Amino acid sequence: MNAPATLPRHVAIIMDGNGRWAERRHRPRSMGHRAGQKAVRASVRACRERGIAVLTLFAFSSENWRRPQEEVGALMELFLHALDSEVEELHGNSVRLRFIGALEAFAPSLRERMLAAMRRTADNTALALNVAVNYGGRWDIAQAARTLALEAVRGDLDPVDIDEHRLAAQLCLADLPPPDLLIRTGGEHRISNFLLWQLAYAELYFTDTLWPDFDAHALDAALDAYSHRERRFGRTGTQLRARA
Ligand code: IPE
Ligand code: IPE
Ligand code: MG
Repeated sequence: MNAPATLPRHVAIIMDGNGRWAERRHRPRSMGHRAGQKAVRASVRACRERGIAVLTLFAFSSENWRRPQEEVGALMELFLHALDSEVEELHGNSVRLRFIGALEAFAPSLRERMLAAMRRTADNTALALNVAVNYGGRWDIAQAARTLALEAVRGDLDPVDIDEHRLAAQLCLADLPPPDLLIRTGGEHRISNFLLWQLAYAELYFTDTLWPDFDAHALDAALDAYSHRERRFGRTGTQLRARA
């Protein structure tokens, strides 16, 4: 497939369908999560090769703690293992890794490794890779509001000055362009409390492909669909064509 005419700067992905992938094979769900790790690797590489600047992956939502303890435990093991096995290669490829979410909920050993990986890759420039763990869009907005409230109490901010711009500046990923394209694999058509604020004008792309089967070809199909979208941001199509 040729490179699409318009490439998103920021791609966000809800990596869904690991459990069903495993269940179809009569294997434990944890095996689906392990297979999903391969798809993560393939997607990171494909985004780098295509010149996408930012990739944000939803790996564990604030609601995923509700899953059976055994599955949550297997996911934590997998995260620990992935941090040990992947970070050097990401660093070698100049990927800047960042974790977003309420990291304080994780075991100290896991949290320490996340912070170390962020420090190690902080100056890399080829691709900004954000991994959302214990992340919820509502949590993100609430923590931004809390930060502003604390500034106001300290006397550093007049509440009448609080506007979209000020709130947005306190959200996760505030220093990056917002997602242009949201991909959700696994066939569900919902946001599941991912980047609620940041996705306001993202183009949405849903595919039935289960996450472990998502590869460079599947990414290209999403990028191709994106390149045919008209992003109007409230304007009319005629206005956009007049500006072009
Ligand atoms: C996504 O796959 C991974 C996580 C939410 C951690 P699922 O585990 O939700 O897979 P399905 O949706 O049950 O198939
Ligand atoms: C969303 O998937 C969260 C992640 C992919 C990490 P879920 O499988 O948890 O979403 P729901 O529960 O089906 O909405
Ligand atoms: Mg799911």
